[in-house]
Amino acid sequence: MKDVEFKVLSNEMIAQDIFRMTLDGDTSDITKPGQFVEIKIPGRYLRRPISVCDWSEGKLTLIYKVVGEGTEDLSFLEPGEYLTALTGLGNGYDLRNIPKNPVIAGGGVGVPPMYALAKALKQQGITPYVALGFNSKDDVFYEQEFRALGVPVNVATVDGSHGAKGFVTDIFGDHHDYAFACGPEPMLKAVYNSVKDGQFSFEARMGCGFGACMGCSKKTKHGFKRVCKDGPIFTWEEIVW
Ligand code: FES
Repeated sequence: MKDVEFKVLSNEMIAQDIFRMTLDGDTSDITKPGQFVEIKIPGRYLRRPISVCDWSEGKLTLIYKVVGEGTEDLSFLEPGEYLTALTGLGNGYDLRNIPKNPVIAGGGVGVPPMYALAKALKQQGITPYVALGFNSKDDVFYEQEFRALGVPVNVATVDGSHGAKGFVTDIFGDHHDYAFACGPEPMLKAVYNSVKDGQFSFEARMGCGFGACMGCSKKTKHGFKRVCKDGPIFTWEEIVW
């Protein structure tokens, strides 16, 4: 874990209430897709956990939804301004021993970390099938960015205004063996029930964000675990609903 000062390079709206921010700073502590950072919003006490969408040496991309005053403040930051963030938080997805054609299921604000994941899987010769779910066409983002990675992509919207009508699980096709999933809990549960194995990213209210307060504990088959440090990714086998 590192506390890093980042310079804002860009901060733009890419869908309804969804912003993409690119930052310049030390990303050396970010090692796996599915990890998150905790942003200190200038003038606010609590940090905000935001999953990493993409990173490279010295550059970080975050996608966040404006849901309250803190994230609204974040959306006002201009290129050239600075913020600090704790980086390298969370366990991230384990990319060892992954079967050849896993499905990546992302729902709403759970979509961003799946981009770095799809990229990492491609780099190790695995082509995931990407299923993205949103409420409506105005909420859809990153469909083209995923396609540009050279992976098959399908989109579902609840109201049917873009892609197939329904939920991510409605567009799984034949992909029911192994899933990587990130999204709201009802979606995670639906994915869990439609596959035989996989890794699931959970959200929790967080205090510290790095394992010190136990404010984010979650029951698993192996006892209580901290979503922020032992997670946010849990395996299919250990999940208790
Ligand atoms: Fe403090 Fe997880 S938020 S232990």
